[in-house]
Formats: sequence, C-alpha cells, structure tokens
Amino acid sequence: MPDGMPERVSVSEDDEKLDLELIEIQLLTEGIYRHYGFDFRDYSVPSMRRRIWKRIYAEGLSTVAGLIEKVLHDSSCMERLLLDLSINTTAMFRDPTFYLAFRQKVVPMLRTYPYVRLWHAGCSTGEEVYSMAILLQEEGLYDRCRIYATDINEAVLQKAKSGIFPIATMQENTSNYITAGGTGTFSEYYTARYDHCIFRPSLRENVVFAQHNLVTDASFNLFNVILCRNVLIYFNTTLQDRVQQLFLDSMEMFGTLGLGKKESIRFTVVAENYEEVDAEEKIYRRIR
Ligand SMILES: C[S@@+](CC[C@H](N)C(=O)[O-])C[C@H]1O[C@@H](n2cnc3c(N)ncnc32)[C@H](O)[C@@H]1O
Repeated sequence: MPDGMPERVSVSEDDEKLDLELIEIQLLTEGIYRHYGFDFRDYSVPSMRRRIWKRIYAEGLSTVAGLIEKVLHDSSCMERLLLDLSINTTAMFRDPTFYLAFRQKVVPMLRTYPYVRLWHAGCSTGEEVYSMAILLQEEGLYDRCRIYATDINEAVLQKAKSGIFPIATMQENTSNYITAGGTGTFSEYYTARYDHCIFRPSLRENVVFAQHNLVTDASFNLFNVILCRNVLIYFNTTLQDRVQQLFLDSMEMFGTLGLGKKESIRFTVVAENYEEVDAEEKIYRRIR
C-alpha cells in the first residue's frame, strides 16, 4: 500500500460507518413510527444520535441494530427510549426576561379580551404552566383564562398534574420569579413538605393537561396565546415548518406566539404571518 494510504482508508471507513449508522437510525425511527406511532423521523440528527447511544448502552447493547430489535419487541424499552428522546429540562420562569416581556407587552392586550385561551405546547413537567398561572393570577386575568398544557410524554404530564416540585429547585425558581417581575412573594404559592413543594391547587383550576403530539396530531382549538418554548430546537427545518403551520392554523388573528431563546419564526413558512412584539424574547403577533 502506498505511503499515506492507510490514513485515507481509515477516514473513508469512518465515513462509511457513519453512513451506515445514519441508515440504521432512519430504520429505527421508521420502525418506531410504524409500530408505535411516535414520529421522530424529522428530529435533528446530532441530538437524536447522542440520545440513542445513551439508550443503547443503558440497555446493555452495542449497536443501533440491537436497539431496533429490542424496541420493536419490547414496549417497556420503547417507553425508556421515549424518555431519552424527549428532553424534559425545564424550570419555573425559565428565561425570566421572557416572562417580564410577556407581562409588559402581552398582558395589556389580553386585558381587552373577555376570555383567553392559552396553549403550552411541549410543557414538560409543567413548571412553565404554573409560572404562567402565577403571572396571570397576579395580573388579575387568571379567572378568564383557560390553559391547555400538552406534551408528547405522558410521564412528564403526570408530574405536571401533581404540581409537586423538588425543594432543591426553589432557590433558582424564586430568583427567576423576581427577575420576571413577580409582584408577590414566591413562597406563598407553595407549601414545603420534606424535600418537595406542593403548589396551590388553585393554580391549575383552569388548566387542562393532555397528551398531544406536535408531529402527528391535529390542531384542536383556536388560541389567543401559543407558547412553544425549547421544543422546536430538536426538530429539523421541515418539521419546524410543519409545526409552525399547525400553530398558525390554531392561532386567532392578533394572537401571540412565544418561542424559546434559540428559536425563531424567521425563515419558516409562516414568517410573513407574524410581526415582532419583542425580537429578543421571541414573542410574535399574528397579523395575517
Ligand atoms: C426541553 S422541554 C421544554 C419544556 C418547556 N417548554 C420549557 O421551555 O421549559 C421539551 C419538551 O418537548 C416535548 N416534546 C418533544 N417532542 C414533542 C412532540 N412531538 N410533541 C409534543 N411535545 C414534544 C418533550 O417531551 C419535552 O417535554
């Protein structure tokens, strides 16, 4: 073999291995979709790859092919993989300046409505739902609001419904609440019990928690506010467009769309339908 060849051969071997792995990942997501109905086929590949490998090792396997076989024949393995694939990181008043902007720029408009329907899409364990309920209570709007809080993952929804959160997170939550413009005392919203805090049940009086898959399920209502924060970053551009179309179909005229810090409607198919309310905080208003 000529000098220098082995290196080039090993690079192309690596490329081939990666190509094969990507094919296997496609087969895995196709199989999951056809057998279980969960559609991860257009999720962003780098993040999927990391999570799939985490599950492969956790199951004592060593290949994607091994995981395909196990997931398709063992629904409990599918449930574990589902938890890995749906990244559930969240916090109360996460990105507090978003909530401050919402209070200052969206609440005044909501005051003009007799009735407000909000949708938290991809609400995870519910921290952002309780945060919004607190904000709306403080603004005297909660009684005329109905909040729909949905997620693909039933396990996180159960936690959200319980309204019980670890006491260890309360320091960060309290600090976020203050930065978010909270007008009361955060500790009044919960009762501490051992290492957990139980939030006031009145905060979820007007909340409906339900499983909803943004990729496969249809629009189910018309909303004045749709918040979908830190979910679309896990989707590729095709899927982001599809979900943005779903939001547009579910949005009242002049309704508000709130996205995560790293997300935007720029360059999506619906960009022309919105104007910026707060560019920095990714808050938009439907104008056509
Ligand atoms: C990182 S969390 C974001 C939670 C919260 N919105 C926030 O910003 O703190 C992403 C959530 O999106 C949910 N999710 C992922 N794919 C989804 C889908 N296709 N339909 C509905 N929810 C989905 C996950 O289960 C997870 O709970």
